Amino acid sequence: MNKSFACALVLAGGKGTRMHSDSPKVLKTLLGESMLYYVYKALKPALGEDVFTIVGFESGQVEKAFPAMKDRFVLQEEQLGTGHALQMGWGRIMDAGVEYCLVVNGDTPLIQEQVISDFLAAVKEEGSDLSFMSITPDDPASFGRVIRDKDGHVTAIVEAKDYDEGVHGPVSGEVNAGIYCLKITVVDSLLSKLNNNNNSGEYYITDLVDLAVECGMNVTAVNAGNSIDLMGINSPFELAQAENALRLRTSERLLKSGVTLHSWESVVVGPGVEIEPGAEIFGPCEIYGRSKIERGAVVESHCRIVDSFVSGGALIKAYSHLEEAQVGPECMVGPYGRLRPGAVLEEGSKVGNFVEVKKAVLGKGAKASHLTYLGDSEIGAGTNIGAGTITCNYDGVNKHKTVIGEGAFIGSNTALVAPVTIGKGALIGAGSTITKNVKDGDLGVARGKQVNISRTFKKS
Ligand code: UD1
Ligand code: CA
Repeated sequence: MNKSFACALVLAGGKGTRMHSDSPKVLKTLLGESMLYYVYKALKPALGEDVFTIVGFESGQVEKAFPAMKDRFVLQEEQLGTGHALQMGWGRIMDAGVEYCLVVNGDTPLIQEQVISDFLAAVKEEGSDLSFMSITPDDPASFGRVIRDKDGHVTAIVEAKDYDEGVHGPVSGEVNAGIYCLKITVVDSLLSKLNNNNNSGEYYITDLVDLAVECGMNVTAVNAGNSIDLMGINSPFELAQAENALRLRTSERLLKSGVTLHSWESVVVGPGVEIEPGAEIFGPCEIYGRSKIERGAVVESHCRIVDSFVSGGALIKAYSHLEEAQVGPECMVGPYGRLRPGAVLEEGSKVGNFVEVKKAVLGKGAKASHLTYLGDSEIGAGTNIGAGTITCNYDGVNKHKTVIGEGAFIGSNTALVAPVTIGKGALIGAGSTITKNVKDGDLGVARGKQVNISRTFKKS
């Protein structure tokens, strides 16, 4: 598709009252990504950078979530309806120097890039002045009803709230999907004619249809059948339905590509995640963001993995949480492991149950098997960290680093008060609170001496 043919305007200014949320509806997520993420992803191949967005309710939150779209947000201060949103964006559209504007409701996240390019191609071929996509779902719900004359020509879209069978006739089942393509120079003359004389008291973009028909313009509707892909999401229930559909679709795609999924219906994988064929995942579990799981890696059930890399041969045992972490080949994590941002596990290293790692590198083969906190640390290859070891990295104001050389042995229940360096091959006695550096090979012990006092019991 020729990029200069059209620009796009995404309508994302509404509050989404039916969602009962204090944040903008379009930021509600499916598989860890917002509705708008999916809409932008679908638009990008055909529209490139020419995508503007109407923001209104909590606009700052939407703008912050998409820094790459900066300068292409248009503020609709008062949300007076979809027609009003279009009016607010019209100046930017006119300035874009293109023939058509594709308008997409921001609450339509299942939309696919193919649907958009087919729609634009149909509009181009037909030369329509105003075209929109329609669907024929099982339940017309709150969608705008499409009205056609006896010859099948579209004459209007009437919103559910305003639909009167006595006036408009029986409902046909065909409804408006909220995706429009407008010939900019032609539709320009209609915008000022929109009014809010309806049961919602809002300016409807859908009123452009009968206005255009009245003016003798070429109006067409492209029907996409009963596709769930064009469903608009207004309520938590609809969000759940769409997310469910997307989840099953993703799991099916992964299975067919060669990924082994157990309890596949409860494996939740985000759209930006890469899982190589030959990886094995046990549901229920969630994998989000820009995560990558390599061939030969195993992720057990009840894990949550976000923006993390899991190498081939690694085993992530049940109930582990990974965020911005890197797990090298043949590593073991968990059960109940927690890798926070900056955790790097080099080849063959191990983090066991109830071990938390943050901004710390565990060298090749290093082990922290039980009940430990490693923060702001470098742990040398082959080092063993005993149960209950804590790196005391925070003094209440600043964070400090703990460096432990290769082949060291840290006895159980050790507190390492950073900044501190433990040399290669050093040994730390169990129960020590280490505040001073320990040289290579030395033994560091810092604990109270045991005193045994015999007790005599008086018989009463
Ligand atoms: C709209 C259509 C309806 C269609 C349905 C498809 C109108 C009047 N009706 O209804 O015919 O069947 O979509 O899903 O358009 N928005 C703004 N500013 C506003 C109001 C809304 O930007 O002042 C945005 C919303 O954030 C949303 C989109 O426009 O992303 C659609 O608004 P919504 O209120 O969901 O419209 P529907 O009632 O679903
Ligand atoms: Ca909607």
